[in-house]
Amino acid sequence: MTASDKNRATLQQTGHPGELFGVGEEMWMDVIHKMDEVYSDLLQYEVALEEKNAKLEESQQFILSVLTSMSDILVVCGRNGMIEEVNRSLEDFTGRNLASLRGTLVFDLFADEASRAQARQLFARFGDQGVHDCELPLLAKDGRAVPVSINCTPRFNAVGKSMGMVVTGRPVGELRRAYQALRQAHDDLKRTQQQLLHAEKMASLGRLVAGVAHELNNPISFILGNVHALKRYAERLGRYLNAIHAGVPQSRIEALRAELRIDRLLGDLPPLIEGTIEGAERTRDIVDGLKRFSAIDRDEQQRFNLTEVIERAVRWVSKGTRDNFRIRLELPPQIPIVGSPGQMQQVMMNLVQNAWDAVAQCAAPTLDIVANIRNDHAQVRFHDNGPGVDDKHLAHVFDPFFTTKAVGQGTGLGLAISYGIIERHHGRITVSNHPDGGAVFVIDLPLATGT
Ligand SMILES: Nc1ncnc2c1ncn2[C@@H]1O[C@H](COP(=O)(O)OP(=O)(O)OP(=O)(O)O)[C@@H](O)[C@H]1O
Ligand SMILES: [Mg+2]
Repeated sequence: MTASDKNRATLQQTGHPGELFGVGEEMWMDVIHKMDEVYSDLLQYEVALEEKNAKLEESQQFILSVLTSMSDILVVCGRNGMIEEVNRSLEDFTGRNLASLRGTLVFDLFADEASRAQARQLFARFGDQGVHDCELPLLAKDGRAVPVSINCTPRFNAVGKSMGMVVTGRPVGELRRAYQALRQAHDDLKRTQQQLLHAEKMASLGRLVAGVAHELNNPISFILGNVHALKRYAERLGRYLNAIHAGVPQSRIEALRAELRIDRLLGDLPPLIEGTIEGAERTRDIVDGLKRFSAIDRDEQQRFNLTEVIERAVRWVSKGTRDNFRIRLELPPQIPIVGSPGQMQQVMMNLVQNAWDAVAQCAAPTLDIVANIRNDHAQVRFHDNGPGVDDKHLAHVFDPFFTTKAVGQGTGLGLAISYGIIERHHGRITVSNHPDGGAVFVIDLPLATGT
């Protein structure tokens, strides 16, 4: 029954449908109509209120679930420091529930008189701006004073009036443990990196020694052969001179001269001595080169010819490789660069070595090294006829420790170190795949200025 039905029934029960308390029926109908409207408005308000209530409950539930699942402790307090709300973590930490905490002072949560006074002072002085990462001891449920890293943020009402503050905190022990674990991991990583760097250096040293040994072998065996020949010649010359000094007759001397092939010996001497000197010089050059290589760690700033460095790198690496590895060089006689020739040689040797590793399965392995000078820059291109770099690896080949080689065959540091060296020389190194196949590494370097 609606409101108007009820009103009409009351009206009919009076027995005077036309007139009641001297008021006309029309007027009554108006009143009933108005009451009807008010009643339906009330109903609508009730429905809206119920909806709002449901939403409010939902958001309260949400806030509660967030507060409950927070691992940091949280306290909401009024302007005077009176606790209004806490989360589950704080209840667990203090061993007290919200009911017993509500209405008490936030300062009483601190462990001793000194920290309570410090907290009061801090909140009074910085309450308006907030307090960040301040370490103070709180009283834990077992009576211990546990250092906690405290953050305190002021809270405001809808019109911007300060309502108190929100205090959050995390026990420092936990932070310290996390920090120590992080530090340990960092130290381990650094140590591993050092070991790998060392391994990379040893590997490149091994390649270098193999190349140098091969290279030294040639002039040394050359010198040795010459010296043996000179020794034999010296014996023959000795015999001949002794005969002359002993006053042997001229005819016998002539016969001895022919027998000991003295004329041929004298003719052979200059080229033998020349060859020996050349061999010794060659050895000296190789040792010079080695000295330069051993300066790898020093950040030198010297002017050098990049062409020579490339040629030496090619010579040293290719000595240790298969005979059919063809390296075609197209280099201008002079590429003046300023920096460290030793470091640059490490870059070049790694590029040649990588190319050689890549073409290992090819029938006719080839590497083209072409350098050009453009304005104030030199560009060196290394193009091999291997399988190229897998597209998905292109972005990673310069990453430290990125390698596709089997364990023990590559540390993945070659290109990462090269990248750093080229950067220190104010240059750039890039990689791409050639449309006709094979990888292309391009190095761009600024030329040395002046003469
Ligand atoms: N010329 C190339 N062709 C195809 N892939 C290449 C070539 N050069 C380098 N790569 C790829 O880049 C990776 C990284 O090369 P990088 O020189 O940094 O390390 P590595 O040669 O694997 O090991 P390391 O040089 O330390 O002995 C290689 O493992 C290889 O997958
Ligand atoms: Mg390499």
